[in-house]
Order: sequence, then C-alpha cells, then structure tokens
Amino acid sequence: MAAKSPSPSAPSHTTIEVALGDRSYEIRVGAGLVANAGSHLSPLLTDPARRGGVAVVTDSNVAALHLPALAGALDAAGVPHRAVVLEPGEHTKDFAHLERLLDDLLGHGIERGGMLVALGGGVVGDLVGFAAAIALRGVDFIQVPTTLLAQVDSSVGGKTGINTRHGKNLVGAFHQPRLVLADIGVLDTLPPRELLAGYAEVVKYGLVGDAGFFAWLEENGRALIAGDRAARIEAVAASCRIKAAIVAADEREHGERALLNLGHTFAHAMEAETGFSDRLLHGEAVALGMVLALELSQQLGLCPDGAAERLRAHYAAVGLPADPAAYGFGADRLIAHMHHDKKVRGGALTFILARGIGRGIVVPDVEPGEVKRLLERRLAA
Ligand SMILES: NC(=O)c1ccc[n+]([C@@H]2O[C@H](COP(=O)([O-])OP(=O)(O)OC[C@H]3O[C@@H](n4cnc5c(N)ncnc54)[C@H](O)[C@@H]3O)[C@@H](O)[C@H]2O)c1
Repeated sequence: MAAKSPSPSAPSHTTIEVALGDRSYEIRVGAGLVANAGSHLSPLLTDPARRGGVAVVTDSNVAALHLPALAGALDAAGVPHRAVVLEPGEHTKDFAHLERLLDDLLGHGIERGGMLVALGGGVVGDLVGFAAAIALRGVDFIQVPTTLLAQVDSSVGGKTGINTRHGKNLVGAFHQPRLVLADIGVLDTLPPRELLAGYAEVVKYGLVGDAGFFAWLEENGRALIAGDRAARIEAVAASCRIKAAIVAADEREHGERALLNLGHTFAHAMEAETGFSDRLLHGEAVALGMVLALELSQQLGLCPDGAAERLRAHYAAVGLPADPAAYGFGADRLIAHMHHDKKVRGGALTFILARGIGRGIVVPDVEPGEVKRLLERRLAA
C-alpha cells in the first residue's frame, strides 16, 4: 500500500460499500466532498416530501468552520435545509440534549421522509444518529464526519447513542446511515491533539486484523499526521474497509465486531477515572489501552514478546501517549471501573487481546488477578 498522489484522471473519491442488504450504504472518502455535498445528497432526496426536510445538525466549533461550505453546497444543488447548532463536547451526548434536539426537529415538522445530516465528530454523529433512530420511529440520516475518529470509526456501522449517569453509551440503537461522506479536507482544521487521538483508532485496525496495514502505518503514519492528504485518504479508506467488512459480518456485535473494542476495557476504566475530561481524550485512552492489551496478551503467553514494544515505538514516532504510569492511576480503582463496564459478565472480565500484531481475539474469562498483576507492574511510577 503506497501513499501516492492521485493521478489527474483518478476519481475524486474512493468508495467503500457497507454490505447490509437493504440497509447497505456507501462510505465516500476524498477531498472536496463537503463542497459537493448537494450532488451526493440529492439522489437520496428523490421523494419530493424529503426536499423540505433536510436538517443539518452540528456543533458550534464545526459550524464556524465548515457549515457555510455545506450550506452553500446544498443551496447550489437546490436542496432546502436548515441548521441546528449544538454545544461542542461530550456533555452534549445526553438525555437533555437529545430531548431538545427531538423537540426542535418535531417542532419544525420533520416528516417520516425527512433527512438529518450529522456534521461533526463522534458526539454529533452518535446523538444525531440516535435522534434519527427514534424520531417518528426512524428517519434517514447521513454522516458527514469531521474528526479523524469519526471518519474511521463512529460514523460507520450504525452504533448510535447517548451517555447516562450510569455510564457512557448505555442508551442507544443500531441505526445505519444512508451515506457517509468523509471529507479529508475538513481534518485540516482539527486541533493536532484531536487528530492524534483519532489516529489511535486507525492503528487499532492494523492491530486487530491487518498486520500489513500496521506496517504501512509505521512507514506513513508520520506523513499522515503532518498533513499528507494522499496518506490520509489511504488510511481512512483502509480503516473503513476493515470496519465495513466486520460490520457486514456481524452488524449487532454478537461475535467478531467485538474485536473493534481492542484496548477499550482498559480505556473506559481510565476515562472513567479521569471523569471523561480533556485530561485524557477517548482516543488517547484507547492508545494506552491497546498497549496494555498487548502487554496482557504477552503476560498470558498468547502473543510473542515484542509486539507491545513495537506498538510503543510507533506511538513515540507519531506522538501518541504510550505510558499509562504518567497519569497516576491506581490498579484497584481501574479494576473497579472495569467491573462496572457493561462487558463484565458474572465476575469474569472479557478482554479483546491479540495473538500478535494483526491478530485480535476475544478472551471472555480473563482472571482478574492477571489484570491486577499487569496494572500494578505497569502503573508503578
Ligand atoms: N458510534 C460509534 O461506533 C463510536 C465509535 C467510537 C467513538 N464513538 C463516540 O465518539 C465520541 C468522540 O468523538 P470525537 O473524538 O469525534 O469527539 P467530538 O465529536 O467531541 O469532537 C472533538 C472536538 O473537535 C471539534 N471538531 C470536530 N471536527 C472539527 C474540525 N474539522 N475542525 C475543528 N474542530 C473540530 C469538536 O467541536 C469537538 O470540540 C465519543 O462520544 C465516543 O463515545 C462512537
């Protein structure tokens, strides 16, 4: 896989199909997709009832940077639309904001044939997707993800939802979008820390199922982070291809889709411990969690020594945090959070581990004592 510049005759975007029968849809990855959003959206609006019902939902950061281009593109295509602008941040993914959003949509007479457009990161995508799932028992929506995390992960696969006081993502629905437009150009305005946090999810795909992709990232990751568009397109498309194949095989996470949670049991515990605050972004927690998952795999003899070291070396090369000891976590507190995690069944901890780079596995009955041993060793300052 080489990061080449597209030739002049190359199509303006790469298309990946998420094959789910009559709920199949395309992920289009490229530059300039927002500026042409009208032509991508119009074919989905052939029902005249829909033409009055496009609501673009975004957050105020993204609205300031990218809403004018999207609105202009819809105007140019003659698609009537209106915008709903939410506060940025994880706290927006809650019941109160969901209620306000639904109230706004219903107040403006959204119809069954209406269409929501989620323009933003994973927070906007998850909230809007859930609103689309339950408004009038289901309206269509499209995802226009604007963070790297949303482009490679949250916008694809139909998991939607909100957080509750009992934990993250505990209320939600599977509701697939009709289309995903991943415009690489919008990543240029993303704060570098957010870009890197999203990159952790890109690395995840290599670790879980594609050693060749991981090796490609070792070659091209720095260029991607520095802004190389061809590398970004290649990495987003490859990530979406891997996720699309897993979702097509296991849409509702009865089996292999769980592999996409590599590092997440550790990550959720660390996020809970930092109060889901800016001290540790989700992607940063996933980065640390994946190191711990490989180290636990090595400790259990599942994975050859050296895999975690190779991962840490890659993080160091691109600038991702690799050392959970830097955050002052205590092993017992992290383990207590894990027992509250929804993936704990009957006292046993389920982890996504790896037999090596590119070989993720679900391990449903990890001894809590092994986890404690690992954490006490790794969290010691
Ligand atoms: N549904 C899923 O399958 C899935 C998968 C992974 C994560 N998630 C969820 O995704 C959420 C995290 O998503 P996120 O990391 O995208 O966070 P986010 O949506 O909060 O976006 C991060 C920040 O970047 C800003 N931003 C977004 N796009 C920008 C751009 N192009 N330029 C400048 N600023 C921009 C936002 O306003 C926000 O301040 C979490 O709630 C997580 O649970 C869902």
